[in-house]
Amino acid sequence: MFDLLVKGGTLPDGTQADIGITGDRIVAVGTLEAEAGRVIDATGDLVAPPFVDPHFHMDATLSYGLPRVNASGTLLEGIALWGELRDLATVDEMVDRAVTYCDWAVSMGLLAIRTHVDTTPDHLRGVEAMLEVKRRVAPYLDLQLVAFPQDGLYRTKTGRENLIRALDMGVDVVGGIPHFERTMEEGAESLRDLGRIAAERGLMWDVHCDETDDPMSRHVETMAREVTRHGLGGRAAGSHLTSMHSMDNYYVSKLLPLIAESGMTAIPNPLINITLQGRHDTYPKRRGLTRVKEMQAMGIPVGWGQDCVLDPWYSLGTADMLDVAFMGLHVAQMTHPAEMERCFTMVTEVNASIMNLPDYGLQVGKRADLVVLDAGNPVEALRLRPARLAVISRGKLVAETKRGDATLHLSGRPATIRRRNP
Ligand code: FE2
Repeated sequence: MFDLLVKGGTLPDGTQADIGITGDRIVAVGTLEAEAGRVIDATGDLVAPPFVDPHFHMDATLSYGLPRVNASGTLLEGIALWGELRDLATVDEMVDRAVTYCDWAVSMGLLAIRTHVDTTPDHLRGVEAMLEVKRRVAPYLDLQLVAFPQDGLYRTKTGRENLIRALDMGVDVVGGIPHFERTMEEGAESLRDLGRIAAERGLMWDVHCDETDDPMSRHVETMAREVTRHGLGGRAAGSHLTSMHSMDNYYVSKLLPLIAESGMTAIPNPLINITLQGRHDTYPKRRGLTRVKEMQAMGIPVGWGQDCVLDPWYSLGTADMLDVAFMGLHVAQMTHPAEMERCFTMVTEVNASIMNLPDYGLQVGKRADLVVLDAGNPVEALRLRPARLAVISRGKLVAETKRGDATLHLSGRPATIRRRNP
């Protein structure tokens, strides 16, 4: 007798399996006949582990237009706008917006998010707010907080001190933004400093690294060195790495083995990178996405992050990691069937490994978190970005969406169509 039985679904690897759940655990996977308190019929539908977002800014989300829109569309105007907003927003406003975003996330089957939290202002209201959000959503969503010195660790008087204060308050991960420090040397020094802080405190490390079109911005080299020095391996992630798009190919042939040797992971954010990078170019305009396939060929784990939804940097977004992967596969030209399947894995299993989630997956014994999609397989899910028919968190049904069937009013044609593969 199971509490919940998900019947007849297709797993991402193409196998058909029922999933039996008792309490908050997956207790059986296979052809299951036992009784269940509740049965979800997933016949013909894709049953996947939940989506995971390893890079987000929840202190800024759902604030688009406050205090005004980003007219130039650049990263730098976004940072300036956020600099105003973070001193105007109250803790309650930030909590409300973030919890609303988490509702959207749950409805999309997105059940784990790593969010950077700006530790620049002395008031640290964003940190206070995000710690409260983490507490509130903990029963159904894993939230990791990164202490993120948005204006630079050394570029403001209290940047370093406030980052340490945030870690002392309970923030989980050490951040960084070396390309925004005053000089290349101060950027490199910030990485040596932050890598040491992460190692000494036994924390993970996730750096906004080289988010620029400058081909000479080479902090990822220093970061990889520090990750190797402290043995952080997969507990460290380089976010964005957009300068790698513009770097000299010979230099990259030296850099990739250094990144691989360190064991660190990479988090490009395709919706934001394609939107913000190349803004100073005329034509041809650079895409600004890092070298995804080339890193993967070297064995470097690469995920896809969302980064922004309705905030000073990005005016769209729906908390759908399939949108993120869809954009990523286009910009990185990952259109071979095996590459598209990999893109689905990137927003599920790879992102979970980047966040070091210990209890993730559809195997017996894992926590019962999963999503049922109105699609037959991962590639079709990317093509349709379909309804999340059922979302289960900790063994409980937490969200449902109706199928996206359309009714046709055409003589001689079917009355109802579903845009699934023929
Ligand atoms: Fe970011």
